[in-house]
Amino acid sequence: TASLATLGAAKGIRFGSTVGKDNFVDAGYRALNAAQCALVVPENEMKWSITRPDAQHFDFRAADRIVDWADANGLGVRGHTLLWHSEQWMPQWVAEHDYGPNPRAEAERLLTDHVATVAGRYADRIDSFDVVNEAIDAETGALRDTALSRHMGGAFETIDIAFQTARAAAPKAQLVYNDYMGWRADEGLHRDAVLRLLEQMRKRGTPIDALGIQSHLGSKFSDTPTGLGSLDEPAFRRFLDEVTGMGLDLLVTEMDVHDNPLPGAIGPRDAQVAAHAKAYLDLMLSYPQTKTVMCWGLSDRYSWLSGMRLRPDGMAKRPCPFDAEFRPKPFRDAIAAAF
Ligand code: XIL
Repeated sequence: TASLATLGAAKGIRFGSTVGKDNFVDAGYRALNAAQCALVVPENEMKWSITRPDAQHFDFRAADRIVDWADANGLGVRGHTLLWHSEQWMPQWVAEHDYGPNPRAEAERLLTDHVATVAGRYADRIDSFDVVNEAIDAETGALRDTALSRHMGGAFETIDIAFQTARAAAPKAQLVYNDYMGWRADEGLHRDAVLRLLEQMRKRGTPIDALGIQSHLGSKFSDTPTGLGSLDEPAFRRFLDEVTGMGLDLLVTEMDVHDNPLPGAIGPRDAQVAAHAKAYLDLMLSYPQTKTVMCWGLSDRYSWLSGMRLRPDGMAKRPCPFDAEFRPKPFRDAIAAAF
């Protein structure tokens, strides 16, 4: 059977997934990714937590290993992420750093130095960057703050500067704002806040090319009566219409289906995951602006969700298109069918 990369390419879609951390050392998993993907994204290796051990140093060893491997295998690479605009995901030293007598200038220096160095290093090998990740508090719709934004006069300023610096350092790369608002009814506040942010960026002339929709489907934190969450397709379409109406492209950047609320039996569970994924991809791919579809992990063996909130029945989670033995699941067929 043809690979997802080949099936996607026939429709002008680049299919990919994430590699990194404990899974990149698995030769079988690397081979699965090389066989199925047109592009890959390092799972954590380009985040500040790994590239930026302290204010003075960069560490690109882990990121380079992945990018070199991708090059050697003819895979494209996405960069993730030049700024995770959330205190929780920035290294502790950013908050504790001595910003000196001119904190605004020092914060701006740290940020521009970081973005220019990382984006510049990979400018010729990465054609799409998640410049800013998750800048919005999903509970309130407000922009999050970090030590950087507090010193720089606000989150908008910080985000603008990150995009401007990325554009200058990697002029050919697609620049993306990435967030996790999806099609569930309870994500309306988050979607509205993303629209407001994108509108502001458009008004300010911020150099942004696309919205990355993470697409962690299903209900991550609460079991809902409907299993994977009540969906609001019309509202999601209105959201996508607004985004594309601003001239932005769309990407599915981190797709998986959190199967925690679904009943245990594997057959029906896999079928429900696949049907959910298919309906979602049909919706996303009805927009010609969606040209990239990435899963957040190809195999259940290495999904970040496995350790996140255990199933009440104690069974292993099955959120990915291939099972723990790298065998294709109905989810894989759903992606193939959606292409
Ligand atoms: C996750 C990784 O998969 C984990 O290994 C890490 O511990 C936390 O981050 N949204 C994102 C990704 O943008 O960076 C996250 O990746 C998953 C949710």
